[in-house]
Amino acid sequence: MNDTFLWGAAGSAHQTEGNNVSSDLWALENSAGGPFPERSGDACDAYHRWPEDLDLLRELGFDAYRFSVEWARVEPEEGRFSKAALGHYRRIVEGCLERGLTPVVTLHHFTSPRWFKGWKGGADRFRAYAEAVVPILEGVEWVCTINEPNLVAMVSSLREGGGGVAGAMPAPDPAMTEALIEAHRAAREVLAGFRSGWTIANQNFEALPGAEAERDAWARPREDVFIEAARGDDFIGVQAYTRVLVGTGGALPVAGDCRKTLTGWEYYPAALGNAVRYTAAKAPGVPILVTENGIATTDDAERIEYTGQALDGLRAAMAEGADVRGYLHWSLLDNYEWGSYRPTFGLVEVDRDSFARTAKPSARWLGSRRI
Ligand code: BGC
Repeated sequence: MNDTFLWGAAGSAHQTEGNNVSSDLWALENSAGGPFPERSGDACDAYHRWPEDLDLLRELGFDAYRFSVEWARVEPEEGRFSKAALGHYRRIVEGCLERGLTPVVTLHHFTSPRWFKGWKGGADRFRAYAEAVVPILEGVEWVCTINEPNLVAMVSSLREGGGGVAGAMPAPDPAMTEALIEAHRAAREVLAGFRSGWTIANQNFEALPGAEAERDAWARPREDVFIEAARGDDFIGVQAYTRVLVGTGGALPVAGDCRKTLTGWEYYPAALGNAVRYTAAKAPGVPILVTENGIATTDDAERIEYTGQALDGLRAAMAEGADVRGYLHWSLLDNYEWGSYRPTFGLVEVDRDSFARTAKPSARWLGSRRI
């Protein structure tokens, strides 16, 4: 391919911007007795500090930035689109282009406007939002419609609690899966002329000996249907962090004695190469973009160790023929990890009071290398 291999880092609106007050998650975080230990609050104040973040990416040597447009800001009330919010995101797109950064824009990264009644029957609303965003995307090539629809679907079938490894969650309601696929396709129609696709939370389901059939049955509704729905898309996003072991009774909890990260997931850098191989096999011919990969750790040397090993796996998968177009590390900043600031995935530390950004050694290490 003539395309340059994208080399960048990622974030999302709710996790970085702060004060996403018209979103469903803000409402949940701030409800009495809400489920989360911490609220997003000001997050990293990226709503105001995004030029600094783009400068930093550039200085560190990256050439791509994945960020999301926040639906709740663009359409805070159903049918009323905010020109100011659209203008804000247009400036970020232009800020990327001026600095030679390739923008990779996500339309939906977990949060929705408070008024949104959910994906079932929601495709037309999502289409209308996508239509409103298209005019500010001039100069953008890569657009992700929905981030991790398989996780969105699994979370929606959680009755209570949460936490743990995503792949161990209950199987999604098939009607929810269908609704997400419909919304994705509706947005892709609107996005004709861009390279559009969605990004999958790859769980790397691995069978214990003798549990191969259970593994396949477990993976199908939680991952495979979402990958297969991307056949014919312009690309598919691979997001991989860890693996989930499956025994004859289903997914197993993370073993007590294995090496773990701050999110409680198994330290498993082979996740990336394996997820890429798996995706290439299930969606043959669809170009792959690694839209997320990283580790929650307070030990930055461990971040370098994990990422170096993950990139070795990615290179091996590419040598075997996987058509991979870029690598976007999760995350640029130590941002809000859906309920807590404790699991730090960032290449860049963010002071929680002053919002000052400080690049970690891993940021310089990753920014100065290539695949
Ligand atoms: C999500 C990110 C999240 C990351 C680490 C992915 O599921 O897209 O928003 O922060 O993984 O948990």
